[in-house]
Amino acid sequence: MKNLFKLLDLTKEEIIDILDLAEQLKYERKHNISHKVLDGQKIGMIFEKASTRTRVSFEVGITELGATALFLSSADLQIGRGEPIQDTARVLGRYLDGIMIRTFKQETVEKLADFAAIPVINGLTDFSHPCQILADLMTVREYKTSFDGLKLAYVGDGNNICNSLVVGALKVGMQVSVAIPTGYEPDERVLEFAKQYDCFEMTTKPEIAVKNADVIVTDVWTSMGQEAETKAREQAFKGYCLTTELLEAANKDYMVLHCLPAHREEEISTQVFEDNAKYIFEEAENRLHAQKAVMVKLFKK
Ligand code: CP
Ligand code: NVA
Repeated sequence: MKNLFKLLDLTKEEIIDILDLAEQLKYERKHNISHKVLDGQKIGMIFEKASTRTRVSFEVGITELGATALFLSSADLQIGRGEPIQDTARVLGRYLDGIMIRTFKQETVEKLADFAAIPVINGLTDFSHPCQILADLMTVREYKTSFDGLKLAYVGDGNNICNSLVVGALKVGMQVSVAIPTGYEPDERVLEFAKQYDCFEMTTKPEIAVKNADVIVTDVWTSMGQEAETKAREQAFKGYCLTTELLEAANKDYMVLHCLPAHREEEISTQVFEDNAKYIFEEAENRLHAQKAVMVKLFKK
């Protein structure tokens, strides 16, 4: 593993290795055991979109691994004024040991890595959010102890979260069912991958997806960059809301995950959100541990 672009690039074993290391790092942090294995390194964090969790968890993680984090917002960088990513990459590659980037196009992440010649981590694109899904898988395993025999359901937009979730959950061996309105399906590359699995199902009906599910996931109807479509999306996603009534069809000890930020009474009811807050905020914490594991794997010299 040289970079983290998307979960499609990882084997099941690589995913499990990251989760195992993340668990170990979580244990060490809890017991004040220092793990400054990236001592002295300089890691850049490029943001072309807003962020709370990704920004803070990466910066804290980098610091805890003994490295220095540089927050690089596109509002301040020359990329915000049109400097090509190829040039930015060739400059940053000479200063830094690694880069995390949150951007729009998946190709930007891969181009950055090509030209910078240092490891690059995808901190969210329009296509994928691998760091989030590693944290989600870590949270599922933490509460359910294993992935064996679990059914995961996703209700909502076939967006970056859905794309990465379908791939990650299928790779680790879960049954996956997604409920998505027509016209908002996951990316073609993801559907092509999912087609190989008999245990993958896509429907337009949330009640079918959540039936007997152990893990239920949703995300916002309108992602960053799609704000102009908000009204049309509110129409299209009516009924794609995790409510207590809908979840009656799920398995008794189900858990709900949400990457956050959440829009209450849109994709999730306030009741369901609060009933599942312990899982959702553990999931947010696990971003830190999962990303530290990825950074150790990619940046440790
Ligand atoms: N879930 C997630 O990536 O959150 P932020 O947008 O706050 O980073
Ligand atoms: N789908 C959301 C995820 C935010 C973490 C977005 O891209 O805005």
